Amino acid sequence: MPSLRHQTLIMSKIKILPEILSNKIAAGEVVERPASIVKELVENALDAGSSRIMVEVRKGGRSLIRVSDNGVGMSSDDAMLSLERYATSKIYTDGDLFAINTLGFRGEALPSIAAVSKFCLITREDTAASGTEIIVHGGTIQKVSEIGAPQGTMVTAAHLFFNMPARRKFLKTVTTEMGHIVDAITKIALGWPDVQFKLTHNEKLVKNWPATGDSVDRIADVLGIDIKDDLCKIKLSADDLTITGWISSARNARKTSRGIYLYVNGRVVRDRIIQHALFEGYSGRLVKGQFPLAVLFIHVPYDQVDVNVHPAKHEVRFAQQKNVHEAVRRSVAEALQRADRSGWNAPGAQPNLSTVGQSGIFEPMADFKILERQRKDPLSREIETFASFRPAFSLDKDPSLARTGVQTPLWKKKRFGDLRVIGQFRDMFILGESGDGLILIDQHAAHERVLFEELKNRFQDSRKTSQKLLIPETIDLGYREAKILERLIPNLTDLGLEIAPFGGDTFVVKAVPLLLKNKEIKPLVVEIVEKTAQIGFSSGMETVLDQCLELMACHGAIRANQKLSDKEIEKLLHQLDTCDQPSNCPHGRPTWIRIGLKELEKMFKRIV
Ligand SMILES: Nc1ncnc2c1ncn2[C@@H]1O[C@H](COP(=O)(O)OP(=O)(O)O)[C@@H](O)[C@H]1O
Ligand SMILES: [Mg+2]
Repeated sequence: MPSLRHQTLIMSKIKILPEILSNKIAAGEVVERPASIVKELVENALDAGSSRIMVEVRKGGRSLIRVSDNGVGMSSDDAMLSLERYATSKIYTDGDLFAINTLGFRGEALPSIAAVSKFCLITREDTAASGTEIIVHGGTIQKVSEIGAPQGTMVTAAHLFFNMPARRKFLKTVTTEMGHIVDAITKIALGWPDVQFKLTHNEKLVKNWPATGDSVDRIADVLGIDIKDDLCKIKLSADDLTITGWISSARNARKTSRGIYLYVNGRVVRDRIIQHALFEGYSGRLVKGQFPLAVLFIHVPYDQVDVNVHPAKHEVRFAQQKNVHEAVRRSVAEALQRADRSGWNAPGAQPNLSTVGQSGIFEPMADFKILERQRKDPLSREIETFASFRPAFSLDKDPSLARTGVQTPLWKKKRFGDLRVIGQFRDMFILGESGDGLILIDQHAAHERVLFEELKNRFQDSRKTSQKLLIPETIDLGYREAKILERLIPNLTDLGLEIAPFGGDTFVVKAVPLLLKNKEIKPLVVEIVEKTAQIGFSSGMETVLDQCLELMACHGAIRANQKLSDKEIEKLLHQLDTCDQPSNCPHGRPTWIRIGLKELEKMFKRIV
């Protein structure tokens, strides 16, 4: 046993790190690369209430990063203090840590940056006659002086990692680092449309985004003007949670998640929960490997979110995770459904917007708890769906509404039914004319959607509408497949596909749903079994059944290479109008595309 004295001796090997060294270590977390410096400095400028922020970069940030703002500035005492580790004006007490309303709060950025660069801070408060300049090299203060300066703050970090050659080696090429810097500014700028952002590289202007009152204008400025027309507005508030923003329709999906921008109380975050909810909102509209474009702002009371999870502060934890998830999912799903119904101008039709208060449709759903309740009740769900229809250009009363017993006059919109049909192309696509474009409809995908929804809605009475086969069909399966089919039989029977065991691994199909009346049934059953084997029962019976429905719809649907009569085309278009999600087939592929008149004119060089 070592004596106590001995222990003390051993312990004295441990020393408190000198401040400069500890700041350098903190810099390892905060200053991952030039872009992280830009992010921290821009966040400070925003916390200071700036309306104009200018970022100057040289050589991808390796030789210089300078952020100037017109915010509140600092007194000379505060400027000195701001360089101390854990010095912050943003939180004071334990309680404050759980109600953070600023982007910064850790008091680490400035000292960390100053520890690994040749650093200069110039700042002036509006009431002060003169400003303060502080020069720091590698964490050591070189000079503090009074200086004439405009109101606001200018922070310069030059010769990044000049005193840490090992870190300097890790810097990537100018193009790569500059790419990260542009990304960082892009993310922040999308979240703060009322602030002007300017970025220069090697003295050349790279970006200049003027302040705007409307986030959609900033999105158009930052992500490209062409996407603006395709954006659907998100707006939902429930209790103290608000979700606003813009998302693209599924037809403008991307191949990566880079077009997803998420903000919680103004802070750029990466959040798996929100991202998952976003995808759920798109459910059935995207095919595998597709990502939406989305700019989503989530506002929750400051004490409902913990932002102190990560040194770079881009992860958060919600107190009411489930509520946030559901609100995001719902707001996205509703926006897409509205967009699906808003349609295009019918040829020659005059928009008639006065019938139903348009506000009732585009306004945020006031309380999603009410909707939550309605969701459980299938009848009210139907009402909710109809209620969110936009007034039709050609109005006709929907007879199905009589069934629901709703008092308020509700109108159902015709959209596909209003198209002037031009004809069929290659017996695969239906061509139609809308007011301002050429609409191409994939007849198989469209009919699949129609049948899928029909099957889903008629779940209950499909048994009644199923058709007994005159000559029952037998099917032989392998052992494993037979076991799977056995398990599926009760559910398939509910769907109108009546199958019975016939000894061993043989089965007999006795009845089929009406929509599969004249179709070959064996390939369908085999595919159902094979696909179920692929996804497994562990994915849940609902998923398995959805897949069965998808396959039934697919097998029942009009094929490509099938000639359609005018009547059949008309029927299909009208059926499409009754669908909840007419724009995608059950696998998520689009059912229609539109080529606008303008696009065509451009292709023919009629306009430039
Ligand atoms: N651009 C700025 N304008 C005004 N004050 C600033 C600015 N940048 C930093 N400060 C002040 O310096 C303090 C320390 O900044 P920082 O190290 O980034 O820590 P934090 O942002 O976490 O508080 C801030 O709390 C703020 O009071
Ligand atoms: Mg900060």
